[in-house]
Amino acid sequence: MEFKNINTMRQLNNGVKIPCVGYGTFRTPEEVAEQAVADAIELGYRHIDTAAVYGNETAVGKGIKDSGINRKELFVTSKLWNTERGYESTKQALQDSLDRLGLDYLDLYLIHWPANEKQFGDDAKRLNAETWRAMEELYHEGKIRAIGLSNFLPHHVADLMETAEIKPMVDQIEVHPGWPHTEEVKKLQSMDLLVEAWAPLGGQGSSVLTNPTLKEIAEDHGKTVAQVCLRWVLQQGVLPLPKSVHVKRMQQNMDFFDFELSNDEMKQISALRDLGGQCANPDDVDF
Ligand SMILES: NC(=O)c1ccc[n+]([C@@H]2O[C@H](COP(=O)([O-])OP(=O)(O)OC[C@H]3O[C@@H](n4cnc5c(N)ncnc54)[C@H](OP(=O)(O)O)[C@@H]3O)[C@@H](O)[C@H]2O)c1
Repeated sequence: MEFKNINTMRQLNNGVKIPCVGYGTFRTPEEVAEQAVADAIELGYRHIDTAAVYGNETAVGKGIKDSGINRKELFVTSKLWNTERGYESTKQALQDSLDRLGLDYLDLYLIHWPANEKQFGDDAKRLNAETWRAMEELYHEGKIRAIGLSNFLPHHVADLMETAEIKPMVDQIEVHPGWPHTEEVKKLQSMDLLVEAWAPLGGQGSSVLTNPTLKEIAEDHGKTVAQVCLRWVLQQGVLPLPKSVHVKRMQQNMDFFDFELSNDEMKQISALRDLGGQCANPDDVDF
């Protein structure tokens, strides 16, 4: 598919359309988020990614209102935090997110992390299935236009599919140079999920943006390393979610549609390792 700009639409497996780049809000403090989101929308971002645990949904909602853009033109995602898993609490958590955002529906709601065996033993699968059952009902009620997962590895998705009635539409996982998750991305895509990349620039404090290989490739194209990272994500059919609270960087992170990375450059970038980022294994986390 030809990507023309950040709002080229991609189609989820239920037919819902999603802009091919999202604006991230992790670690954007409540007092900054309203302005940052309003700025991002004014610049042209139409896809906003937040989560209950970011503690900024109220401000994100105000930024959306301030923008004056018709709600229907925006694609808004939030996520169910780990303490709210389970059938009843998932339903309440969605309502709480909607109330904080000041919205009456979400475009996409994700389970933020799978319950894992390390914490829940044999109960992990049941807990994920119960959470998913609530997500399916909320979807049928029209409160969410699409439902999905985050940090689910292919084996978590396969477990979920044993009882799921609706196939998830999205899986949002960590993808950046140094932590490419190449096999997982391909497997998830083959399962008909749209993969979104969190921390596409490596996240706060990683060494992705100062990596010499990436710098050289960026110079060859007259682009910045951030733009090369976003292009590398996009060319894998993955949807990047760059975050910045600075207008100049927001602009830069929209401007990567006028060049293409060669196969050789794609391979070089995918081969990079150990550049930082969270690099968390969802089977091993204890939060
Ligand atoms: N599902 C999950 O578990 C999960 C986890 C983490 C993140 N996410 C989502 O994914 C989004 C992106 O991840 P992220 O925020 O961790 O990391 P990121 O977007 O990879 O990187 C953000 C960092 O890079 C800086 N930055 C942004 N654009 C830049 C540019 N053009 N040049 C130089 N520096 C730049 C930002 O600083 P400034 O803001 O100061 O510009 C910030 O420190 C999040 O915001 C969130 O929406 C999801």
